[in-house]
Formats: sequence, C-alpha cells, structure tokens
Amino acid sequence: MTELPRIAFASLDSKPKASTVVYFAAEGEGLPPHLKKLDASTGGAISKAIEIAAFKRKRKSVVEILAPHGLSAARLMLVGVGEPKTLNPHEWMEIGGAVRGKLPAKTTEADIMFDGVDSLNGDAPLSFALGFSLRNYAFKKYKSKGGSRGEAEEAEGENDRAPPRLTIFSHSGEQLVGGFQKDRALLEGVYFARDLVNEPANILTPPEFVERLRALETEGLKVEVLDERALKSLGMNAMLAVGQGSAQPSAVVILRWNGVPQADASDGNLVFVGKGVCFDSGGISIKPSQGMEDMKGDMAGAAAVAGVMTTLARRKAPVRAVGIVGLVENMPSATATRPGDIVTSASGQTIEILNTDAEGRLVLADLLWYAQAHLEPKLIITLATLTGAILVALGKEYAGLFSNDDALASKISEAGQDIGEFAWRLPLSKKYNKLIDSKLADVKNIGGRDAGSITAAQFLLRFVKSGIPWAHLDIAGMAMGSPASDINSSWGSGYGVRLLDHFSDKFYEPRSEPN
Ligand code: BES
Ligand code: MN
Ligand code: ZN
Repeated sequence: MTELPRIAFASLDSKPKASTVVYFAAEGEGLPPHLKKLDASTGGAISKAIEIAAFKRKRKSVVEILAPHGLSAARLMLVGVGEPKTLNPHEWMEIGGAVRGKLPAKTTEADIMFDGVDSLNGDAPLSFALGFSLRNYAFKKYKSKGGSRGEAEEAEGENDRAPPRLTIFSHSGEQLVGGFQKDRALLEGVYFARDLVNEPANILTPPEFVERLRALETEGLKVEVLDERALKSLGMNAMLAVGQGSAQPSAVVILRWNGVPQADASDGNLVFVGKGVCFDSGGISIKPSQGMEDMKGDMAGAAAVAGVMTTLARRKAPVRAVGIVGLVENMPSATATRPGDIVTSASGQTIEILNTDAEGRLVLADLLWYAQAHLEPKLIITLATLTGAILVALGKEYAGLFSNDDALASKISEAGQDIGEFAWRLPLSKKYNKLIDSKLADVKNIGGRDAGSITAAQFLLRFVKSGIPWAHLDIAGMAMGSPASDINSSWGSGYGVRLLDHFSDKFYEPRSEPN
C-alpha cells in the first residue's frame, strides 16, 4: 500500500529544523510574530521578497525565499490564506493540499508554522495535514527503481523516495496527535481505495481483490467470502452471468464492522454495496477500444466500500456497518452471456440481458437481494461506476444520487457538502418503468437512449423491498480520471470514502461527551 506522509505535531515554542519551513500570511495583517523576528534577523529579506513578488496574501498564493540569509532552512515558503477568520475546515484542507502541490516532489521534510493563524480555528492544523496527505498520494508502484528510462547514473528513481516528514507547529502542540488519529484512519481508507482503483486489471483480478480484502481481518473486520459455488447455490445468477465469460472466478465479499455493544445493536446495519467489475470490456456487446483501459477502474464502488470499512475499523467507529462487494470480470468469450439471454436473479425476478455492457446493474441486483435477505439493513447505499450517461448529466463535479427516501438523500447530500464530495439528486419515478419493461422477462437491462442513469437506478429500485431506505450513488464521473484538484492528483480519486465516513460519523454515531 502507498505510504502516508509521516506527520508530527509540536509546540510553537520549539524551533523549526527542517530544510523547508512554511508560514502563513493573512490579508491586511502584518507578518506573524515569529516571522517578524526572522525578518529582522535576515535584514528585512522577507519583507523585501513580499514586496518584489507583489504578494497580496490571497488564499493559496505563495512567495518562496530560497537559501534565506541567516536561516538554516533551504526554503522558506510564505502562504497566503486570505481572510483566515472565514476559513472553514474544508478550506484549510485545500490549503494543505495546495501547499503540497507547490513544494517540489522530492521534498523530504517540512515544518509548518501555525503562527498567528490557528487561534482562529483550533482544528486548522488537522485539516491542513489531511489535505497535505491527500495530495501527497501518488501511485508509483510500477515505476522501477533507478528511474523509468534505464538511466543508471541517476541514482534515485521516483519509487525510491520515502514519504515526506511533516511537523506542524501550533499553539496546541502535541495535543493534536490524538485528534489526528481519526484523520489517519480516514487517510488509510482513501489510500486503500485509490490503490485499488489505480491497480491494473491483470493484477487486481477478482481473486486478488478477495485476498486484499481478507487482509482486512487484521484491522478487526469480519471477512466472509462467497465463492462461485456458494453464489450458485444462493441463485445469484444475474451476477454470475456477468463473470461467466471470464477466466477469473467471480466472488462476493462481506466486510462486517460491529462497533457498538450487543445491547444497542438491535436497529440494523448501515449497509454499503459496491460494484466491483475488475475489468469491463463490455462483454459480447464489446466497448470501442478507445479509452477501454479506463475500465480497470470499474470496481471503484467496491473500492470505496472497502476503503470506508477500513476507516470505520481503524478509528473504531461506534456504529454497526456492513460492506458487500461483487467482484467479477466482464469479458467476451465462448462462455460469455449473449445479448438476448434471460437469467433468473436471486430475488426470483427474471432479467432479459439485451446489452452485456449494462452489467453493473446485474451485479448490484443480486447484491441488493443478498443485503436484504442476510445483512439486517437499517439502510442501504449502493456505489457504482454505473453509467456513462451520468458524465453527460453531471460531469466530473457531482455524483448522481438516487433514493427512495427523502431523509436519507438529504443526509447524503449534506455529508457530501460538508467534506467536498458532492452528489446531486436525480429523480426516480414509476413513469420510467415502461422503459425497462421487457417483452419476455420481468425486466430488461437497458432502457434505450434517454435518461440512461435514471433507468439504471430505476432498474435497481426493482430489487429494493418497500420500506427499506435505499440510496444509490452513480460515481462513474467522480471515481476515476477526475481532474487534478488541490487534494488529489491521482487517477483514482477514492471518491466515496470520505463521504460515507462523514455520513456515518455525523448521523449515526453517538457523540462522545465533551469533558
Ligand atoms: N462501467 C460502465 C459505465 C462507465 C462509463 C463507467 C464510463 C465509467 C466511465 C457501465 O458498465 C456501462 O458500460 N454502461 C453502459 C450502459 C449502457 C450499455 C446501457 C453505458 O453507460 O454506456
Ligand atoms: Mn459496462
Ligand atoms: Zn461497467
């Protein structure tokens, strides 16, 4: 797994020692107290640099001073934070990410000085560290040692670098170590999800995915695996139809986290369901070759579920949650499903498969049945890179959100707003049912050209029993190939981990008493 930066916390009374030192500067204020002293001892070099660079202290703008006279640091970076009184945790997180982006890639250590700014927002150093760490992620596993072009004399390759060490100096000092435990748990989950999404499909096959999830037992999760035999005897033929053309066996993995005492455990589980198509070639309804490589990321729903379950376990969240993922590979072959095939799903409903590339909903249909029959859901959230149409509708800024329950939908949008993983609600309505009614079976797996993301969600709704609060996130536009941002420069973004972690934390975990 990709390594996290090493983060430490220190008091502002101690002196920075790293080769890179970062200070913040607020609009309309003088230099922060420590920096004012430094300025004096460098003969005014800092104020001169500010003037020459016409540094206005706008948020995320920087001025850099290299080899500052009278200082042991090689690099002094001054970061504008605009009007710090108005900065919320999310904005501090973005500043952390932006600072990581502005430092050279090979920075090994940096001291971050919350001098004169953190008194306004006590948790700012934590948010900063979170953003810095999110941005620091890079998937370098397949960059061989010694550089990528066989340049023997270039001793250091991209993969030889240890993650940077960050020390955050603030008034709260080492007290923040405890608070960062929660963020570290979150980062582990996001890094895990990103690693899974970035991994190529020849490596991350369904069996390999199973092994990586089995390893989560050491985190305190209960891991149950259903192999093809078990899936057959459960009648999960819709999901099995997707994998039947592949040389790789399909599997379902169930991850259980029980973080509440038995006595309180009566009201059911938060159930997270993830689409885990390890590669989606389209099957017999094969996709065009242009861009097909991106379909290694068609398991991003499953990755988000695995990520959030890791986080809940790592931070010992006081909640009951179950993650379930369906792992398959969608390939064309002599054993593959044909257009026109009719399968009987585990729910008993028959499905006419008119396009083998509309495979995600077949996987989810059986997972939804399993969740309701065996996992005692309080609510269910499905996550899937389900439709290309959601990119047409919402682009790469919002996931599509569908729900049969207004309260649940509001909670998800609110959680997303809070932490910056956005979701926009689209309609479900029985008016769309006629588009997926089949002549020969109960339902068909495509709805025609119009409203592609809605008909996919409406298909899923047919597998949800009435009275079960259910929401579906179509993350095809968010989970991979997302534009670089302050807090992500990786192809796989890990979308959904922070959203679901915060959703659980905010709405389903008892607040610990302030002491
Ligand atoms: N995995 C794709 C959806 C997708 C597209 C994800 C682009 C990420 C980026 C899904 O299985 C699919 O192929 N959907 C089809 C459905 C159609 C055949 C009804 C689509 O969107 O074209
Ligand atoms: Mn497909
Ligand atoms: Zn797919």
